[in-house]
Order: sequence, then C-alpha cells, then structure tokens
Amino acid sequence: MSTPDITLASGHAIPQLGLGTWMLRGQQCKDVVKEALELGYTHLDSAWMYENQDAIGQVLKEIGADRDSLFITSKIWHSHLEYEATLEQMEEILRDLQTEYVDLLLIHHPGHQGVPVERTLAAFEKIHAAGQAKSIGISNFSIEQTDRARAATGLPICTNQVEYHLRHNRERLRHHCHAHNVVLTAHRPLAQGDLAQDEALKQVAAEHGKTPAQVALKWLLQKDMIVIPKASSTAHLRDNLDLFDWQIGDEEMARLDGVGADPD
Ligand SMILES: NC(=O)c1ccc[n+]([C@@H]2O[C@H](COP(=O)([O-])OP(=O)(O)OC[C@H]3O[C@@H](n4cnc5c(N)ncnc54)[C@H](OP(=O)(O)O)[C@@H]3O)[C@@H](O)[C@H]2O)c1
Repeated sequence: MSTPDITLASGHAIPQLGLGTWMLRGQQCKDVVKEALELGYTHLDSAWMYENQDAIGQVLKEIGADRDSLFITSKIWHSHLEYEATLEQMEEILRDLQTEYVDLLLIHHPGHQGVPVERTLAAFEKIHAAGQAKSIGISNFSIEQTDRARAATGLPICTNQVEYHLRHNRERLRHHCHAHNVVLTAHRPLAQGDLAQDEALKQVAAEHGKTPAQVALKWLLQKDMIVIPKASSTAHLRDNLDLFDWQIGDEEMARLDGVGADPD
C-alpha cells in the first residue's frame, strides 16, 4: 500500500511516512536505504549532522533511483546558522547527497550561539530562489519560536519537526502549528523503541492485531502528523509501512491521548 501525502503550504506534497536515518551510517545506511526504497518508502529524513548524507547519495546513485519520485529532507546544523555558513553547508549537503535540490530544508535547532532566525531564513530564501530547496521548515521550535520564524520570511514555514510520541503528547504545539498551516513532523515517534511495553498501546494493538509500535505510529498519523521512524531491520521496515488500511477508533484515540499529555 502506498503512503498518503500531505500537501504543504508551499504546494508540494510530502509522504506522511518517512524513514528516519539518524544513527545509520556507511554501509549499514546504504543497505537500509536500499531495502526501504525496494519495500516502497519514498521519503528519507536526513541531516548534515547525521554524517550519512554521502552514503545516502552513493546508494541512490548506485541503484539509479528516480530522484523526482523521492522526498528528501535535510537540516542545517546549529554551527551554521549565519547567512554565509548556511549557504556553505547547503553546498556540502547537495554535494554529499549528489542531488540538485532537497525537497525540504529545516533549521535543525533554534537560535544557538545567538544567531537571529532572520539571518538563517534569509539564506533559506536564497537557497529556495536558486531551486535548491523546494520547501523550508524548522525543527525543535517552540510556539513562540515558530511564530518568530513565520514572521521572519515571506516563504511559508511548511513543517516543524519535533519530538512527539505517546509519552510526549504536545497538543498545544500541534494545534498552534496546524492552525497556521505548519505541519508537525514527529521525530523519535517510537521514543527510540521505548514504547513497546506500554500497557495502553499493548491493549489497542491486541484489539487490532497490530504491534504496539504500529499503534504508536498510527496514533500520530491520525493526528495529521508526518512520522519518520528509524528502522534497520526488515521486520520493522515492513511493519512501519503497514499503517494505512486500518484505523484506531475515537475511544481508543482518547485513551492513548491520556498517556502522556504535555503542557507544551
Ligand atoms: N530533528 C531532530 O532534532 C531529530 C531528533 C531525533 C530524531 N530525528 C529524526 O527522527 C528519526 C526517528 O527518531 P529516532 O531514530 O531517534 O527514534 P525512533 O524512530 O523513535 O526509534 C527507533 C528505534 O525503534 C526501533 N523500531 C523501529 N520500528 C519498530 C517497530 N515497528 N517495532 C519495534 N521497534 C521499532 C528501531 O529498531 P531497529 O533499528 O532495530 O529496526 C530503533 O531502535 C531519526 O532517525 C531522525 O531522522 C530528528
């Protein structure tokens, strides 16, 4: 079954499921990305800081991937938020990925070293105008930081990629971002594999004949979020694709909502 898309404020479509690639490096990264694409993944989440973009670029070239059928996200690290440094890091990202553009470029973390977001976003505007990033966004931004980023550029801030999972249910942030057409992407959606023993998840999973991890991801999808679980085993890669022809009921969603409500 193919992954549904969400249309971003830029007008471009993003597959609602992507493969997280943090901690995948070298040959393992190449093997996992190749297998994921064979299984039907079309969306890869990467970052300059993951030190794997050269491996991703190499494997995409080796297998002759059709670039336009893929959605690739990258992120500018907080050491490079000044205007010129952002442009330099972008060149490195494109060189390593062996591509002319990324589909989505994010500020990986807000304002380290006191660089105002306006300066980084000015570089993002140049990158966007050059066709090197089709859409732009932010990551790990609070409500206030999101609003400042939105006000700082004429380009739409399409996504905010934040830690979001059953034990970190950030409804206020989600409602605020979605009200302003900033789609939330849930990073660490499985709490790094930590949710498997959660009793509420286990119950709902048993009711649907699914695994707790699948229910944890489905709960996020039904909140109209993008999910980017990292998986390296074939079984996990397959399980995480099997999310789109079943539904969690309203009462079950409410039960799961209660597990980790967060004032944020
Ligand atoms: N923007 C940011 O600051 C930021 C921060 C953190 C992460 N991220 C992004 O978000 C992605 C995901 O986060 P994450 O890698 O930290 O953690 P995660 O996706 O929450 O968890 C990954 C762990 O879950 C396991 N897993 C995957 N699918 C499973 C399944 N169906 N059943 C049981 N276990 C399963 C994986 O095992 P196996 O590997 O053994 O399959 C791995 O140990 C990252 O890879 C990265 O792309 C972004």
